[in-house]
Amino acid sequence: MNKIDVILGLQWGDEGKGKIVDYLATSYDIVARFQGGPNAGHTLKFDGNKYVLHTVPSGIFRENLINLIGNGVVLDPIVFQKELRSLEASKVMFHSRLLVSKKAHLILPTHRWLDAASEAHKGKAKIGSTLKGIGPTYMDKTGRNGIRVGDIASPDFMERYNALKNKHLELLKIYPAIDFNLDKEEAEWFDSLSALTALQVVDCEYYINDALNTGKRILAEGAQGSMLDIDFGTYPFVTSSNTITAGVCTGLGVAPQRIGRVIGITKAYCTRVGSGPFPSELLDEVGNKLREIGNEFGSTTGRPRRCGWIDIPQLKYTIMLNGVTELCMTKIDVLNAFESIGIANAYNYGGIETEIVPFDLNMNDMQSVMEMLPGWNCPLDSASQYEDLPEAALHFIRTLENHRGVRFTMTSTGPEREKLIVR
Ligand code: GDP
Ligand code: IMO
Ligand code: MG
Repeated sequence: MNKIDVILGLQWGDEGKGKIVDYLATSYDIVARFQGGPNAGHTLKFDGNKYVLHTVPSGIFRENLINLIGNGVVLDPIVFQKELRSLEASKVMFHSRLLVSKKAHLILPTHRWLDAASEAHKGKAKIGSTLKGIGPTYMDKTGRNGIRVGDIASPDFMERYNALKNKHLELLKIYPAIDFNLDKEEAEWFDSLSALTALQVVDCEYYINDALNTGKRILAEGAQGSMLDIDFGTYPFVTSSNTITAGVCTGLGVAPQRIGRVIGITKAYCTRVGSGPFPSELLDEVGNKLREIGNEFGSTTGRPRRCGWIDIPQLKYTIMLNGVTELCMTKIDVLNAFESIGIANAYNYGGIETEIVPFDLNMNDMQSVMEMLPGWNCPLDSASQYEDLPEAALHFIRTLENHRGVRFTMTSTGPEREKLIVR
């Protein structure tokens, strides 16, 4: 049976999914996003240029490749139109190759307004949302109030839009006042709908199953990371969708037995942007050095990312949840300048050492049990094969593999497309 392969992040997002999807895309006919929305920022670097994609799948720069936005995605037409314009400016011919599911939900201007108001209301307890309207849109989806891409063509579209908007305006009364120019945002929103409706709007579930049945090779591109999953992440400091492999089934309409390779991506260290627990976080000079060398600033919001060492219990947990069949390590080059490199092997809380990710990672007495490995202290530019890597880097990779029995089949040594060692 022809199967769909999956690439997703095993940490708190920004693992370098965009780069790896772009690299692997030439081996596929279709790349499909299955969840999330413009909270994602996927960076691609090639031919001296840098591109950041938010809604558009990362296969868009590969000629002839179909890029599909699945039903599990929430789409903001304004952000989407901006992305399409910048693709046009880069002379990327996408019109016949970019497809959108009829069942993808629309982010309304008032969803963004609600997101900002809800975060303001939470004060210190805020999630640190990207404020793209993700939470409120998924709430309307599960609350059965949402508006979908396919609804734009419906004769009662305006009626439904106004009903939902008015509901939002009522809700906003319970929140602190936020500066928001609704008239301006609305005008821009309606104007941007034409860019969306000019594309092929499809029944994603039929499209993808027909494609599988006719032998097409499909790659599903995750957004965010497994530790931000609505069910299994560090709740409530998570996003509002299922970011794990299971999300591919519901976000595209494919059955579980159709899932093939699952490539889990981890940075060589760990980052998180926004609030929430982060046991191996480094709040010292070492953390600052990781941020500086790794250029750890959000692709979507520009916020500085929190940095820390790689976390083994967390990786084991997300490998388990996703059914990861192979691993990819990104940003190993960032560790070139470190004398020693940390690995968090376990957690210690209440005096008990464990590898289990606890129900509440927020506990105050939670600590990581650290092991320090020697660094390699040299650039990796000359390594084109796995065996060329310095012994200390190989030791670092092997030590991580020992913990789980899944192999690293790819190691990324720089942001550029070609900086990838495939084993
Ligand atoms: P995504 O959201 O998972 O696609 O990741 P982001 O694009 O938000 O963040 C990853 C950042 O790391 C981007 O700036 C990439 O250009 C960069 N990057 C990806 N792989 C590597 C790598 O191997 N080394 C270095 N130094 N940077 C990388
Ligand atoms: P990519 O796909 C990193 C984080 C936010 C916040 C929490 C909830 O680029 O890896 P939301 O906007 O969903 O309400 O935010 O999730 N977050 C991300 N962090 N990478 C992302 O996407 C993220 N998308 C959301 O910072 O803590
Ligand atoms: Mg990102």
